[in-house]
Amino acid sequence: MQLNRYSVFPATDQLTWHFPGKLEKNQGASNLVSKKLIAVGGIAFLVLAGAVLGFWRNLGDNTGYSPEQPIPFSHKLHAGDNKIPCLYCHADATRSRHATVPSTNVCMNCHNVVKTDSPLIQELTRKFKEGKPIEWVRIHDLPDHVYFSHKRHLAKQIKCEACHGNVAQMDRIVQDKTLLMGFCVNCHRTNKGPNGEDQKGPTDCTTCHN
Ligand code: HEC
Ligand code: HEC
Ligand code: HEC
Ligand code: HEC
Ligand code: HEC
Repeated sequence: MQLNRYSVFPATDQLTWHFPGKLEKNQGASNLVSKKLIAVGGIAFLVLAGAVLGFWRNLGDNTGYSPEQPIPFSHKLHAGDNKIPCLYCHADATRSRHATVPSTNVCMNCHNVVKTDSPLIQELTRKFKEGKPIEWVRIHDLPDHVYFSHKRHLAKQIKCEACHGNVAQMDRIVQDKTLLMGFCVNCHRTNKGPNGEDQKGPTDCTTCHN
């Protein structure tokens, strides 16, 4: 079997091999099997290349990402104007890796009585009674190969704002920091504690990648 250089870098014209019409016109049966194999290799290569490109894109900077949410929940109205503490709704942040978004029964603690004349609150209440969760769109999302935990950072009294910006002033939440490796490592090198004392984080690769 003659190995073709295009099996590594398939050009578009080589990819036409797997169109049956062309194969029937140009190739004998034995040749057809090897050409098919090469074509399959070419396709596998393209799939792989696509996956790698997708991976690179995912590693990009998502600053400014601010998707529309199923119910227009305003942090400015709740955490800003009404001064509801972040941890009232994101209490998991102090005790686990994830801060998590509150389930609807947390909303109902107030909205059983607050603003029940609002169509938005009526929709919220209907979903709650039907037992349907609200499908909030995820915003901050590290790649799977990175380890991060809220708990340890909050134990060092690092503020939510350091990584999420001034959420209490956001009507619709937006990713404010890059959350790229440089952002994390910079702080690990230079962070100061609440009294201005050195409070660095680890910078060896296995801290965040395992
Ligand atoms: C009354 C409940 C409530 C309070 C108080 C609250 N949040 Fe939220 N938070 C939510 C809900 C609901 C969502 C999901 C909807 C959204 O993204 O707007 C959310 C989403 C977020 C997200 C984005 C999650 C993601 O998908 O990446 C961050 C970051 C966040 N909150 C931080 C904060 C901070 C910081 C505070 C305090 C300044 C705070 N929240 C106060 C309910 C609350
Ligand atoms: C040191 C940086 C840092 C601090 C401080 C921080 N966060 Fe986060 N937060 C992140 C990162 C990074 C993610 C994405 C995590 C992931 O994809 O696994 C995230 C995700 C979230 C999410 C989405 C759900 C989740 O847990 O993945 C919410 C909600 C959130 N943070 C709220 C808060 C609140 C509220 C505070 C303060 C009490 C806070 N964060 C403090 C970095 C931070
Ligand atoms: C601690 C009390 C409290 C909790 C918990 C709470 N809210 Fe609210 N919410 C308020 C207050 C106060 C207002 C402002 C009411 C007003 O404008 O008179 C409000 C207003 C709203 C509005 C605007 C309604 C309109 O038509 O103007 C929406 C939407 C809303 N909340 C959704 C939610 C959701 C979703 C949750 C759960 C993630 C939630 N709230 C949790 C107190 C709360
Ligand atoms: C504002 C400063 C700051 C930022 C930003 C920050 N860190 Fe940290 N991080 C710290 C400090 C300080 C410690 C040390 C905590 C300790 O010693 O308990 C730490 C510890 C850690 C640890 C080891 C403790 C644990 O939870 O297992 C990991 C992992 C970590 N950070 C990951 C990250 C990642 C990933 C990011 C970026 C998305 C990030 N950090 C952003 C300050 C920061
Ligand atoms: C404090 C946490 C932290 C430490 C320490 C850390 N990384 Fe990362 N790394 C990240 C985060 C967050 C990402 C994902 C975002 C990005 O791509 O920048 C990442 C992404 C990467 C990537 C993906 C490609 C890229 O450049 O975006 C590689 C490779 C990598 N890290 C290698 C390393 C090596 C090697 C070390 C040790 C010298 C290291 N990391 C130490 C947090 C960390």
